[in-house]
Amino acid sequence: MKIGIIGTGNISHKHFKEFSKIEGVKIESVCDVNNENLNLFISKFGKHIRCYSSADEMLENEKNFDGISNATPDKFHKEVSLKVLNRQLNIFSEKPLAENYQDAKILADAANKYNVINMVNFTYRESSAYQKLVEILKSHQLGDVRHVSANYYQSWLTSNIWGKWREEDRWLWRLSKEHGSNGALGDTGVHIFDFTVNAVGDIKELCADLKTFKEKGTKIGKYTLDANDGFTSMIRFENGAIGTVTNTRYATGYANTLILEVFCEKGAVKVELDEQRNKWSTLNICEGDNIHSIKWEKIECDQTPSNFERFISSIRKNSNDQPNFTQGAKIQKILDMCIKSNDINQWVDIK
Ligand SMILES: NC(=O)c1ccc[n+]([C@@H]2O[C@H](COP(=O)([O-])OP(=O)(O)OC[C@H]3O[C@@H](n4cnc5c(N)ncnc54)[C@H](O)[C@@H]3O)[C@@H](O)[C@H]2O)c1
Repeated sequence: MKIGIIGTGNISHKHFKEFSKIEGVKIESVCDVNNENLNLFISKFGKHIRCYSSADEMLENEKNFDGISNATPDKFHKEVSLKVLNRQLNIFSEKPLAENYQDAKILADAANKYNVINMVNFTYRESSAYQKLVEILKSHQLGDVRHVSANYYQSWLTSNIWGKWREEDRWLWRLSKEHGSNGALGDTGVHIFDFTVNAVGDIKELCADLKTFKEKGTKIGKYTLDANDGFTSMIRFENGAIGTVTNTRYATGYANTLILEVFCEKGAVKVELDEQRNKWSTLNICEGDNIHSIKWEKIECDQTPSNFERFISSIRKNSNDQPNFTQGAKIQKILDMCIKSNDINQWVDIK
């Protein structure tokens, strides 16, 4: 199978490695508008890979793609994905699907109209513990969900674990609205909302508070530091459960951790995913007599497919697995509603 990659920056290296691991899948051509990134990619992964300086050039010159991976920054997702969809090619897009719900819906509608395989790379779905948590909740063995606590913690604004954001250009788009960032909400909030909604169910209403800490400074070079650094939100789910979803880049002591706790009528489940993937297969459950002794049991879950594998097997079976573009658009709407709720300082109805 022949997969092409558009955008050869940071995340594309993972796309190359993950797709190349799958039997019968080859990355033979890539493109980028930035020559430096393109050359670095080629020097790392092989001179045999054909490279192009734009998506149009690659799509014009290369025939018989089985799928295209869109690994460009958020700001270019819509434009690039539409080019791919208009050629009726299967598409794997980085998250978020687009910059706002209107654009995300255009992409989801186009993917459905052309009936191509479409997937958004919500990475944390890849945790086998999370997959088991979803299965348990959907089986209803713990009864109705009552209360949810979902937190996404990063600390790159207080630590140098990933580098020095005040000195390195590559972080700055994440802090600047003009450079296409919806801040922590768009960057990582998109993950924690997908994680929560896919497990618990749709959101009815929410109330969100976005925060940009002015104290960290207002500008670095051409970048105005005006995107949010984190948010808290209160949620009312369609199924009657309530909860909170939060996300911060000031979570000192955590590099990149997602914690989802779901408390139900007859038990509770939780997953905590850490940066090193040490805990991606460990599910914690409290049920039966353990409810009274306040004991959590650890369940080791067998590996489940990566999003890259799901995309390829969807193409092979001609049957679209999750997370698809429709889900990507649904999550985008939640992000838009968080911004609206913050702006008007009120609860908002998702519909
Ligand atoms: N799923 C995850 O967990 C995860 C993790 C990190 C990043 N991401 C997402 O991946 C995307 C890329 O992030 P990154 O850190 O790799 O960014 P990056 O800036 O390192 O790389 C993006 C590349 O795309 C190129 N590009 C821009 N516009 C283009 C166009 N029109 N045609 C071709 N190439 C173009 C840029 O020149 C750059 O080389 C972002 O949307 C980000 O949110 C996802």
